[in-house]
Amino acid sequence: MEKKNLGVLASGRGSNLQSIMDACAAGRIPARVAVVISDNNDAYALERARRAGIAAVAVNIDDYTDKAEYERYIVKVLMEHGVHLVCLAGYMRLVGTTMLDAFAGRVMNIHPALLPAFPGLHGQEQAWRYGVKYSGCTVHFVDDGMDTGPIILQAVVPVYDDDTADTLAARILEQEHRIYPEAINLYCTDKLVIEGRIVRIGA
Ligand code: GAR
Repeated sequence: MEKKNLGVLASGRGSNLQSIMDACAAGRIPARVAVVISDNNDAYALERARRAGIAAVAVNIDDYTDKAEYERYIVKVLMEHGVHLVCLAGYMRLVGTTMLDAFAGRVMNIHPALLPAFPGLHGQEQAWRYGVKYSGCTVHFVDDGMDTGPIILQAVVPVYDDDTADTLAARILEQEHRIYPEAINLYCTDKLVIEGRIVRIGA
């Protein structure tokens, strides 16, 4: 199977990016990370990419007149690297129509809660404060809403009485690192069939 090119967008430390790079390097996904783009020049994700010999591009939204122009530049970089699938990995911005139109049905995200519960920022802390007994993480395709796109995979973790938001986030993160590469592999091996907002996993 021919390898697919992934473009990863990350705003911070990049541990999910690392799990994706590791899965590609280990041959667990027939893909390579072709480029990492960050809206934050100081993101450790960029350093992880450079260390792995992967193109690392910082894009500052303040350098552009509006979000569409900012995203046109990102789309250009993604296309220059022949990207098939865009993976948001801790990218802390809503994706606009410019990027969604250019990569229709080809943008994935990982969210640290069981969607549709606790969308938006700090999903782990929202769940912990709410007092749920189980939370988890969700990989989904991205649409124009806030964490509303078709769900691909979810993993559930228990919430314990002595948890803090941080200990819960750490337990969820372990599962993120497991299911994000798995979802990307399903995409890259043509196993995902989207029917409306239902994603079926084929044989
Ligand atoms: C992850 O927990 C990811 O699920 C979350 O940001 C963290 C990034 O960590 N994403 C969101 O909250 C998106 N709304 P990482 O940079 O170590 O992968």
